[in-house]
Amino acid sequence: MQNNEEEERPTGTSNLVFAVNGHRFELSSVDASMTLLEFLRSHTSFKSVKLSCGEGGCGACIVLLSKYDPLREHIEDFTISSCLTLLCSINGCSITTTEGLGNSKDGFHSIHQRFTGFHASQCGFCTPGMCISLFGALVNAEKTDRPDPFLGFSKLTVIEAEKAIAGNLCRCTGYRPIADACKSFAADVDMEDLGFNSFWKKKESQEVKISRLPFYNRNHEICTFPEFLKREVKSSLPLESKRFSWYKPASIEELQSLLDTIDANNGVQMKIVVVIRRDQSGIEIGASLTISKVIEALKEEWKGEFLSECKVVFKKIAVHMEKIASEFIRNTGSVGGNLVMAQRKHFPSDIVTILLAAGSLVEILTGTMREKLTLEEFLAGASFDSKSVLLNVKIPNCESIKNISPERNSKLLFETYRAAPRPLGNALPYLNAAFLAEVSCSKSSAGIMLNRCQLAFGAFGTKHAIRAWKVEEFLAGKLLTIDILYDAIKLVKANVMPEDGTRNPTYRSINTLMFNDGKSKQNYDCLDHVKFPTLLSSARQVIQINKEYHPVGEPVTKSGAALQASGEAVYVDDIPSPRDCLHGAFIYSKKPFARVKGIEFNSKLLPAGLTALISFKDIPNGGENIGAKTIFGPEPLFADEFTRCSGERLALVVADTQKHADVASSIAVVDYDLENLDRPILTVEQAIKRSSLFEVPSFIYPKQIGDVSKGMAEADHKIISAENQTALAVPDEENCMVVYSSTQCPEFAHAVIAECLGVPEHNVRVITRRVGGAFGGKAIKAMPVATACALAAYKLQRPVRMYLNRKTDMIMAGGRHPMKITFSVCKTNLLSRSAMRAPGEVQGSYIAEAVIEHVASSLSMDADSVRAINLHTHDSLNSFYDVSAGEPLEYTLPSLWDKLATSSSFIQRTEMIKEFNRCNLWRKRGISRVPAVHEVMLRPTPGKVSILSDGSVVVEVGGIELGQGLWTKVKQMAAFGLGSIKCVGVGDLLDKVRVIESNTLSLIQGGLLLGALPLSQAVKQLECAVKPWLTD
Ligand SMILES: Cc1cc2nc3c(=O)[nH]c(=O)nc-3n(C[C@H](O)[C@H](O)[C@H](O)COP(=O)(O)OP(=O)(O)OC[C@H]3O[C@@H](n4cnc5c(N)ncnc54)[C@H](O)[C@@H]3O)c2cc1C
Ligand code: FES
Ligand code: FES
Repeated sequence: MQNNEEEERPTGTSNLVFAVNGHRFELSSVDASMTLLEFLRSHTSFKSVKLSCGEGGCGACIVLLSKYDPLREHIEDFTISSCLTLLCSINGCSITTTEGLGNSKDGFHSIHQRFTGFHASQCGFCTPGMCISLFGALVNAEKTDRPDPFLGFSKLTVIEAEKAIAGNLCRCTGYRPIADACKSFAADVDMEDLGFNSFWKKKESQEVKISRLPFYNRNHEICTFPEFLKREVKSSLPLESKRFSWYKPASIEELQSLLDTIDANNGVQMKIVVVIRRDQSGIEIGASLTISKVIEALKEEWKGEFLSECKVVFKKIAVHMEKIASEFIRNTGSVGGNLVMAQRKHFPSDIVTILLAAGSLVEILTGTMREKLTLEEFLAGASFDSKSVLLNVKIPNCESIKNISPERNSKLLFETYRAAPRPLGNALPYLNAAFLAEVSCSKSSAGIMLNRCQLAFGAFGTKHAIRAWKVEEFLAGKLLTIDILYDAIKLVKANVMPEDGTRNPTYRSINTLMFNDGKSKQNYDCLDHVKFPTLLSSARQVIQINKEYHPVGEPVTKSGAALQASGEAVYVDDIPSPRDCLHGAFIYSKKPFARVKGIEFNSKLLPAGLTALISFKDIPNGGENIGAKTIFGPEPLFADEFTRCSGERLALVVADTQKHADVASSIAVVDYDLENLDRPILTVEQAIKRSSLFEVPSFIYPKQIGDVSKGMAEADHKIISAENQTALAVPDEENCMVVYSSTQCPEFAHAVIAECLGVPEHNVRVITRRVGGAFGGKAIKAMPVATACALAAYKLQRPVRMYLNRKTDMIMAGGRHPMKITFSVCKTNLLSRSAMRAPGEVQGSYIAEAVIEHVASSLSMDADSVRAINLHTHDSLNSFYDVSAGEPLEYTLPSLWDKLATSSSFIQRTEMIKEFNRCNLWRKRGISRVPAVHEVMLRPTPGKVSILSDGSVVVEVGGIELGQGLWTKVKQMAAFGLGSIKCVGVGDLLDKVRVIESNTLSLIQGGLLLGALPLSQAVKQLECAVKPWLTD
């Protein structure tokens, strides 16, 4: 229930009450497992929060959560991921999404405007989350007691602005423009550092540049906690536990009795008392304290309580914790949850490792028994059962460590380390370590004595972090010499070993040694006095503007970017569900080659909400089992009695909600039969050996020039776009089907759907407005999703929609194509791969570059010289590309090659790098320039331009807006073309042109995703048509 602030409200309700963007919501009951994301997307109009990863890893779903403390009259604002937040947990809270900042009707917020002007949004699926991350940072910066900034700026610093988006994943835009939009709010920003934008011209003065930025008024910022909710919080009652299945015990005793009465094995999740206690013996942290709060407490300045060495230990623990996940995860993730996950599920925790080295203790509650254990004992104990509770963790005062040392003038050292794919966090560690050592100057000889040490290693491929006791014992009481360190490293190697089955064991082992040998400061992310590295290296963007075709070629803002930022842009899954809409989820094969005997559900009762199970048997008479068409032929929608690869679609579960469909598909049990079947083909080599080859269509046979016979390149990129595969199919009159699909190729989806349903193509309409990122993955792989929805909708005569969860999406994407240099295309029992950004060309380039490098190394030549010798001449280009080679004067690669060498000082830099590498044991730096020749083909594609009676213009093209800016280019082309029929030139024509969604029956598509060029023809024809009319 949503109502406005003005309404009279009941006081003292025990219902769930919260606010979203100033609107009040009150719920008298709710499924306790409902997430905030699910609620916002399916029960409100606030669709800016997107589901992408569904597990806290991407930031597409984040919102600002505000809590009010009536006693202190204080509002706390922090970002959270709505996909991991249970709705019941936000009782009495206020939520702000990007819609709450502004919109196209009432005016955009300066965050939206600056994201637009700095060209910081492409497909736009990540943009609402980015805007909220920045907004959260701005809100909190304004609460600091820093001096007031210049007008139009905030109290935010550049470093904070960059950090604000460190947990937000963008698959398309690149972080430079996004970071620039964020930094433009910072009080300490140097305007010269801000990159290319639509606000100012390069040579304009600082003052002019500032005046052109959309104004940020820090005195009129958005209210994050509405007054009505403050009043209600003061008089509210706790949620009625039974009705909401939501318990909030206020004491340990209450918790104990709850655990006794509730079936704790039945999915009960718990968190426990929130306190931080400090005394002479150390710091005790309540288990459910969030990681952010712990960081804050550990960084706090305390007068006198601890030795300064201890304070350093606490601060270093805090600095390490800042690398864990992202800010919005740390704002809700608890230390206790982390420790229990590490104990129970062998989660590769950072917290466990650093606390282990600091000699931490934990307190647990089992039944009525409270017990204190060392962290090591806790980790090594039996799996923590669901009725036991972790109460707190204690980091001891290091004075206690020093007190047991006989050495009085000793010093404590503490270091933590982390090797991970990304330096700023938001990536699990490959390995982590922390070392605490007590050292003193040797009395007998010049040197350092290591009196004792505590060495912890984690995440390297064991069940949980460990103390390296043997190494500690070996080092204790020793004078540190090269020989001793060398022996210690050998001991580490023998004692810190990844278990069998660990990925990249050698890399992890080498890292443990590097952490130990003191080189880590140069090579690894040693978190001592970490200075936040800036996200971006310096760069310069130079755009040459040619006015001849004004406004074509001019850098205008992207069409629809502000709508993307404010969350108003509508993607397929944002379209409201029609009445009686059902939801689908695929059941896919987990065997590469098997007979499918049947599918059942792994529960006594039928899964909740289940409506139908659709398989190849449901293809209507006259229809075909077809899910996609590729140049190698059709691909089945569902496996028939055989599945030919893991990840192949076996059936579609249809249920009343997406959650029910997902749950039903996850508990489906497939009965496979492998008897008398050949072994599956799993590698390209096996395929060649068993002559399993595709018939290559003659038009793509390469023209054989020269003799290519060796080389191998394999790449297994995972393809993800921010928006997962999605479609909505709605049955229409006369056996027709309207399908909203997030596809790059609506016309192919159209044909496949018609063929599958056995209806004429004019009975199908595929509509695509925008796609939340694609990279090739929404070309072929989007078709079966649209087709499956259409088939289910056709059979059930009800709308059916589907939004693949990230796991299914990634499994079905299958990665980038592996490649071996042969003249055949091999057929394996692996899932068909996805076309992805320049399909085939990346693999081809790898192969070509591998050949070049090999030749260079065999001949002891510089690879750059081999590349230069092998650049095409115009003659060789002609042999390969025929007509598309163009005229000799048009072939510019050799001159570009030289120009690049000059503009980048390539030769000088090569020498500098060689010199640097000569002075280092390992080759650490490199430089390379790599040419690429891409054949450009012109294909006829349709375009339609209509001028309406008020002079506004509507354009349709045979291409899809995927974030690449097609609509912007189309608008420019239309404005340019129509410019000549306007007496005063182009003027505001750009604003008059609107490009609309693709609709396969309104405009027959021209294939793939481009299509601005034919527009010029359409505009020309329109120009001829309207000119005489205008003259009259
Ligand atoms: C995207 C992402 C990246 C991450 N990266 C890292 C990383 O790099 N390093 C790292 O160390 N961590 C990382 N984490 C983990 C994170 O730090 C949190 O520890 C984690 O999210 C668990 O916190 P939680 O409070 O939400 O746990 P919950 O999900 O609430 O709890 C986890 C489990 O522990 C149980 N539990 C919780 N508290 C108690 C208690 N007091 N007593 C008994 N049982 C309890 C719960 O019932 C549940 O079964 C990452 C998490 C995410 C989502
Ligand atoms: S963080 Fe929630 S969807 Fe990715
Ligand atoms: S613009 Fe960021 S994911 Fe597409």
